[in-house]
Amino acid sequence: MTEIVIPNDLNGLGNLLGGRLLHWMDLCAAISAQRHTNRVCVTAAVDFVEFRSPIRQGEIVVLESQVNRVFRTSMEVEVNVWAEDPRTQTRRHCNRAFYTFVAVDETGQPVEAPPVLPETPEEQTRYEQAARRRELRLLLAGRLDPEKAARLQASLAELASRNDEPSSVTNS
Ligand SMILES: CC(C)(COP(=O)(O)OP(=O)(O)OC[C@H]1O[C@@H](n2cnc3c(N)ncnc32)[C@H](O)[C@@H]1OP(=O)(O)O)[C@@H](O)C(=O)NCCC(=O)NCCS
Repeated sequence: MTEIVIPNDLNGLGNLLGGRLLHWMDLCAAISAQRHTNRVCVTAAVDFVEFRSPIRQGEIVVLESQVNRVFRTSMEVEVNVWAEDPRTQTRRHCNRAFYTFVAVDETGQPVEAPPVLPETPEEQTRYEQAARRRELRLLLAGRLDPEKAARLQASLAELASRNDEPSSVTNS
């Protein structure tokens, strides 16, 4: 999806408003979710939003989204954003976020969505990481018993064991 930043999109510093960008990201992610499921999908959560670099008036905003993983009725959609200089067509990565969408029926009730089948190594990595992020977001939302966050616990244990390893730098 592409947009161009016009004066009505700016904050007091002359940069793109964060809220406007989040709106575009939500639309972009919704298109991926709905194309994947052939259903209406609603936003259930947004997390890990990073604003790395301001986007200026006149720049072209390029948004790209993909469904990383479907759980049952919900799915994680990753959105990446680049700002493109219209004179040089060079791009810089500005933003990333993870949206959770839920496929719903005509009455707004969650319905099962078809799975994602990762093919490339990059898709496989995104697929695996999506499961860990899901545990974290459900934990923080009070929707998951910490005892049941097995993937997260394994990741934390792995990190802790790395920190326990002796440093490779030796003092002489
Ligand atoms: C999203 C919504 C349909 C979920 O309804 P619910 O009654 O909580 O349904 P469930 O408990 O069965 O959850 C459905 C799925 O959503 C997921 N979910 C619900 N809240 C979540 C949250 N905060 N973070 C991540 N996932 C969440 C559940 O884990 C479940 O996923 P799964 O089926 O893949 O296991 C409902 O909360 C809703 O309609 N929210 C408003 C959506 C909306 O209007 N969005 C626009 C922004 S204003």
